[in-house]
Amino acid sequence: MQHTDTYLMGNSQSYVIRPIHISDRERIIALFDHLSPESRYLRFAHAISKLPDAFLEDILHLDYAKEMALVAVLQAVTAQDDIIGIARYVTPPDTLICEFSISVADQYASHGIGTQLMLDLIARAKDNGLQKMIGYVLGTNPKMLGLVSELGFEIADIDDDPDFKMVSLTL
Ligand SMILES: CC(C)(COP(=O)(O)OP(=O)(O)OC[C@H]1O[C@@H](n2cnc3c(N)ncnc32)[C@H](O)[C@@H]1OP(=O)(O)O)[C@@H](O)C(=O)NCCC(=O)NCCS
Repeated sequence: MQHTDTYLMGNSQSYVIRPIHISDRERIIALFDHLSPESRYLRFAHAISKLPDAFLEDILHLDYAKEMALVAVLQAVTAQDDIIGIARYVTPPDTLICEFSISVADQYASHGIGTQLMLDLIARAKDNGLQKMIGYVLGTNPKMLGLVSELGFEIADIDDDPDFKMVSLTL
């Protein structure tokens, strides 16, 4: 059974967080199409103008034993269930360490959606028996570094990559 919770943004708008569904394809494309160049860069660490097809296929066809993708969906009469955030983890073979990534629509940033997506993603990773969650965050992304540090992640330098920090949380 699919589990969803409704959250308030503090401006009378609300959203639910639920696992991604195959029918979300067009709404995921719309979310990325509307991201600012800066947000795209912070998420993908290079400038992309279009969501890569392989990324889209991967995210819509998850292996739920190892992977998870949650979407934040706006609850509004006029918004046609717009997707306003997405958080995902993948787990490489033969490990119990998953790697997350996250994006929130610029228009809805700083309303707690990124934090809530991370909290739900962490809960699901724990439920799925994973032991650790890691992420690679650009050093020029203080907002994401602050967000994960509030959630208890440790932040470490990476020896051979000065641009990125590795953040990790024992689950
Ligand atoms: C980084 C990112 C995911 C954060 O998402 P977000 O939804 O804005 O995050 P939150 O709202 O939970 O937290 C961010 C800020 O809002 C504040 N906040 C938390 N709850 C809030 C609420 N209910 N109302 C208002 N503000 C709130 C937090 O204190 C935080 O403040 P700070 O930036 O001054 O530290 C988003 O900005 C993004 O998609 N960036 C581009 C992609 C990216 O950087 N991805 C990470 C690399 S994997």
